[in-house]
Amino acid sequence: MKKITNICCIGAGYVGGPTMAVIASNCPEIKVTVVDVNTQRIADWNGADLENLPIYEPGLKEIVSAVRGKNLFFSTDIEEGIKQAQMIFISVNTPTKTYGKGKGMAADLKYIELCARQIASVADEEKIIVEKSTIPVRTAQTIKTILENTGNKIKFQILSNPEFLAEGTAINDLQNADRMLIGGDHSTEEGRKAIDSLAAIYERWLPAERIIKTNLWSSELSKLTANAFLAQRVSSINAMSAICEKTGADVDEVARAIGADSRIGSKFIKSSVGFGGSCFQKDILNLVYISASLGLNEVADYWEQVLLINSYQRRRFAENIVTSLFNTVAGKKIAFLGWAFKKDTNDTRETAAMYVADLLLEETADICVYDPKVSQSKMYSNLEHLGTRSNEENEAHLKAVSDPYEACRDSHAIAILTEWDEFRSYDWQRIFDNMKKPAFIFDGRNITDCKKLTDIGFKVYQIGRGCNIASV
Ligand code: UDX
Ligand code: ADP
Repeated sequence: MKKITNICCIGAGYVGGPTMAVIASNCPEIKVTVVDVNTQRIADWNGADLENLPIYEPGLKEIVSAVRGKNLFFSTDIEEGIKQAQMIFISVNTPTKTYGKGKGMAADLKYIELCARQIASVADEEKIIVEKSTIPVRTAQTIKTILENTGNKIKFQILSNPEFLAEGTAINDLQNADRMLIGGDHSTEEGRKAIDSLAAIYERWLPAERIIKTNLWSSELSKLTANAFLAQRVSSINAMSAICEKTGADVDEVARAIGADSRIGSKFIKSSVGFGGSCFQKDILNLVYISASLGLNEVADYWEQVLLINSYQRRRFAENIVTSLFNTVAGKKIAFLGWAFKKDTNDTRETAAMYVADLLLEETADICVYDPKVSQSKMYSNLEHLGTRSNEENEAHLKAVSDPYEACRDSHAIAILTEWDEFRSYDWQRIFDNMKKPAFIFDGRNITDCKKLTDIGFKVYQIGRGCNIASV
């Protein structure tokens, strides 16, 4: 087994950054270099102000401050990073394709391919390549083919080591991972050695029994399967939330009741305005695409339904705001509390907030957003990505402010899109006093106390509970 003393990670994003910080802090004798083409991102990782790291993640700045400059480095010199390392992690993004075959469904592997070509052209000795990005089944084969055909005839071992960290809890998820999956080529001595070299790194802080070794394809497919199962649970409870609102059942009570069944379990059954994030939608689209490509149309339809329920849930929430506000939000100020796809992250990829905002902007509402970690420019780029209207129109009708009370002042309604803890302890009487009447709250995360707000005078809607306004 090869003893690893130098690691390079290509991609300094939500996966690469936290993962390498945790490896560096647990393995002080390994030099870890994270490289990226994005010079601003690298400058921010190296910045003196730890409050302004490119990624917000609880516990991250403490680790970075302890190991940066000791055995954790951030650099734009990708070639040098590759050359020096015995093990290279690929943590670049694999967004859904926006062009050509598989547009809107398949994963775009151009960044992965670029990495493979760069590794092949630079490497002058044997290396272990670890796929960390979420990728469709059999991508390892693509990487292997590129490495074998474009390089200097050097041997590479390819491993799949999918990331199961969830944003907002990344450090804890990495430090105390339920399992660490390593897929590789068991059929050869070199393959087994490579798997063991990576396992030895994780065994520095994880019990050996949590490290699961599989073949490459099982490992790649397990990542898609895990995300599809998790997303399916959220869509299942969200589908029930619509029934609850029509029948008087309370979705949180239903979730508690079914969660107590140990066969079902209590996690990932919190009803919401819809799931977001970089993985769920992308991975399920990918699964649907793979299934259809394999001629498995029923399987494709089955998984696609998880996404259809998710967009239904977002649309239902937005339409309920319009209907409740006497069928028009034109020119009305609507306050958004939260924009991130969940609490404790500044990530906004696929956030429900942008879809709800988009629908309300179509109804010519004026939106004022407060999110503790998301910048206004990120909100505009999310809306630009949807491409529904011009940037000028988005900028004229949506603004972000840094004070929640200001966001809510003179608004007709508040929509809660993210479950940030601080929202729970606001002075709701003060907020109510400064709003237009009747004052509405649409709680897309069920974090408010309906009775307390109703007593103050609010008209309250919660997902799957209806609360004190009739829902559509
Ligand atoms: C997910 C997987 O959990 C992780 O293992 C994988 O590596 C990447 O994708 P992440 O996208 O960071 O992680 O967040 P996650 O906690 O899974 O939440 C995804 C979305 O589902 C969020 O928008 C969240 O608000 C929503 N959600 C989650 C619910 O609406 N209800 C729930 O009960 C749980
Ligand atoms: P993830 O959530 O998967 O970590 P991010 O978008 O946060 O996704 O991070 C991916 C990072 O990979 C980005 O910072 C991007 O600049 C970087 N990247 C993409 N392609 C390359 C490449 N060929 N070489 C180096 N870095 C790359």
